[in-house]
Amino acid sequence: MEQMKMNPSTLSVLLLLAGPLGADPEWHVEYPDSFCVVEGSTATIPCSFTHPKVHEKTGAVVDLVERVVWCPNHKICHGTTPNVYDSSSVRADSRFLYLGDRVGNCTLKIIKTVKRDAETYRFRFETNGGGFAGKKGVRVNVTNGEDVKVRSSVTDNVVKEGGQVTLTCTSACSFHELDVHWYRNGHALSETGPSLHLSHLTNDETGNYTCSLDSSGQKTSAPWSLVVLVDEGKPESGSNQSESVWLLSVSVVSVLLAVFLLLLAGLVFAKRRHAQKKASEVIQKQEVDRKQEAVGASEEVSYATVHFKCNTSRSAPGPEHEIVYSEVAR
Ligand SMILES: *[C@@H]1O[C@H](CO)[C@@H](O)[C@H](O)[C@H]1NC(C)=O
Ligand SMILES: *[C@@H]1O[C@H](CO)[C@@H](O)[C@H](O)[C@H]1NC(C)=O
Ligand SMILES: *[C@@H]1O[C@H](CO)[C@@H](O)[C@H](O)[C@H]1NC(C)=O
Repeated sequence: MEQMKMNPSTLSVLLLLAGPLGADPEWHVEYPDSFCVVEGSTATIPCSFTHPKVHEKTGAVVDLVERVVWCPNHKICHGTTPNVYDSSSVRADSRFLYLGDRVGNCTLKIIKTVKRDAETYRFRFETNGGGFAGKKGVRVNVTNGEDVKVRSSVTDNVVKEGGQVTLTCTSACSFHELDVHWYRNGHALSETGPSLHLSHLTNDETGNYTCSLDSSGQKTSAPWSLVVLVDEGKPESGSNQSESVWLLSVSVVSVLLAVFLLLLAGLVFAKRRHAQKKASEVIQKQEVDRKQEAVGASEEVSYATVHFKCNTSRSAPGPEHEIVYSEVAR
């Protein structure tokens, strides 16, 4: 490594010149001031840490985190201070898990929290260039879940039949990995989990809903009452509109039907008239035919001749005709 060959004063100058962007990080541990968790649930406490690459006093290069440790109620958590997690000793059967690393993440997980876990915890790390503890610490509160509430996706407690609503079980404190149970009028529902989605609502679903963070029903919310409004054609803004649309279509259909019937009646009448007319025509024709039987075949021939002449003069206007015309002109 290039840095190792440089003497500390040269490095310090270089680091100063580098400015804020390239500044060597400070010794620091970052975690929330307090963390609140419902008893029995799992707490994941976020934590991160930094250290300089070169010790500001000794000039020693800091490049190895040798030990990480979490302690309850101790300012600097050094040496043999009682701890809940220590990377240098194996602790079987611990509810305290270190999810962090030796680079910058010091996240701590507490599984199935109990009342006595409520302490202020501090993280300490020891490097080849010295050790450091985040003195502020994180205060962990373990609550009974007396602040459990039901929140709903609708502002009103009244939902129309066929509608939907999503209920969410909330608490001021985190309750990860807890079984959430739901009840309607005190009777357990089959659904579990932090949110309850109710759709295609029927009147049977009207009632008081509660959620609980434990099966014993101890950490139970106050009831949230749901009223499913059955629509019986009451004059409401929504149904009113559909009603008028229905009325409109009914009147359009009846007008069309009336027009159709009129046309049908007219058609029948016209047909009847036509039939009568035809009948009289047939009679007339029969009379005409009887008279024409006397007329000879010569007349028919003359008709045919007229037709033939007419056709040729229309379909074949050619030089022949020009000749004829010119002959006429002369
Ligand atoms: C730290 O580690 C935890 C657990 O692996 C992870 O959930 C979290 O995102 C990490 N934090 C950062 C800042 O990377
Ligand atoms: C934790 O408990 C302390 C003392 O009971 C209280 O003052 C603080 O507000 C609590 N913090 C949270 C996040 O609930
Ligand atoms: C729901 O609770 C209210 C009081 O909060 C009560 O008056 C009502 O009868 C309850 N409804 C049912 C179905 O238990």
